[in-house]
Amino acid sequence: GAAELGPYRHYMQKEIFEQPRAIGDTLEGVNGVTPELFGDGAYGIFKQIDRVLILACGTSYYSGCAAKYWLEEIAQIPTQVEVASEYRYRTSVPDPKTLVVTISQSGETADTLAALRHAQGLGMAHTLTICNVATSAMVRECRLAYITRAGVEIGVASTKAFTTQLAGLFLLTLALAQVRGRLSDEQEAAHLKAMRHLPVALQAVLALEPQVISWAEDFARMDNALFLGRGLHYPIALEGALKLKEISYIHAEAYPAGELKHGPLALVTSAMPVVTVAPNDALLEKLKSNMQEVRARGGVLYVLADADTRIGSSDGIHVIRMPEHYGALSPILHVVPLQLLAYHTALARGTDVDKPRNLAKSVTVE
Ligand code: G6P
Repeated sequence: GAAELGPYRHYMQKEIFEQPRAIGDTLEGVNGVTPELFGDGAYGIFKQIDRVLILACGTSYYSGCAAKYWLEEIAQIPTQVEVASEYRYRTSVPDPKTLVVTISQSGETADTLAALRHAQGLGMAHTLTICNVATSAMVRECRLAYITRAGVEIGVASTKAFTTQLAGLFLLTLALAQVRGRLSDEQEAAHLKAMRHLPVALQAVLALEPQVISWAEDFARMDNALFLGRGLHYPIALEGALKLKEISYIHAEAYPAGELKHGPLALVTSAMPVVTVAPNDALLEKLKSNMQEVRARGGVLYVLADADTRIGSSDGIHVIRMPEHYGALSPILHVVPLQLLAYHTALARGTDVDKPRNLAKSVTVE
């Protein structure tokens, strides 16, 4: 009811602003990296596996896409991410030494459960879920679990479930890295410190809301939008586009920035805003040249820039600067302004933010 909304107009807005608390709760009691955070016997299972297969749908699928970058870079374990509804129906090559990871807010999504059972049927018994509902079918049916503490999520467009999934997946990455001898004590301490800082860091990002509102005023008048990212932030671009299309009904798609020249550049005009997720990582220089390509075609850029990049606002380039540089945890922070952008754009267009047309919170039938 309205009372639970407190000062917020919609559940989605409330849930976006709950993220510092949700992440804090999800990481509460994590005093060190150990496989047993995922359940009894996790060490033995992590020792036996030599690859990861992630299965999920929707926003949960995008958190898996981001985790692949962490798992391959930090834990150096080969990782595949697949949409559950595709995996369950195709012929694939099973490997019993796989850790099958399902990701689900509800733990009841029909396709994700069916994909899990399909993998089990193919002889893959090492299963783990990152899930927000401890009593769900997914948690019951997986051997190991990490329960995110987002709390009840009511808005159909998932927000706090996504960022808490990323927190759980980062912990999984660290635990696998440790078991594989790829995490020094110093690295573990540095990662834990960065994770503990997340609630404060998120609070500072939420304070960017007024700047995001001014972007949303522009977006509310558009019919299309393009989101670009590279590496770890390509899945964040995908999630930003998904949020916008789900609740504002603006056609939005995301591309890895290097693919711009292979198609979407043909669509760029002044009527097609281009959102660029631009953290200061190794690919920044390349991303800058992608942005030049957009400007050269009259495209207007909306850049989410890192604290220590020198990209400034100029004609056709709108910059929102992130308060800090976040390193590996950067996706958890960069998605927040994109959630706010979708929310405020939808608000300006007068759509039903919490209950977008044709969509359900949890798809428990196929
Ligand atoms: C629906 C919801 C999405 C969600 C997806 C997967 O499409 O509208 O917000 O990401 O299902 O749900 P799950 O509960 O498995 O994460």
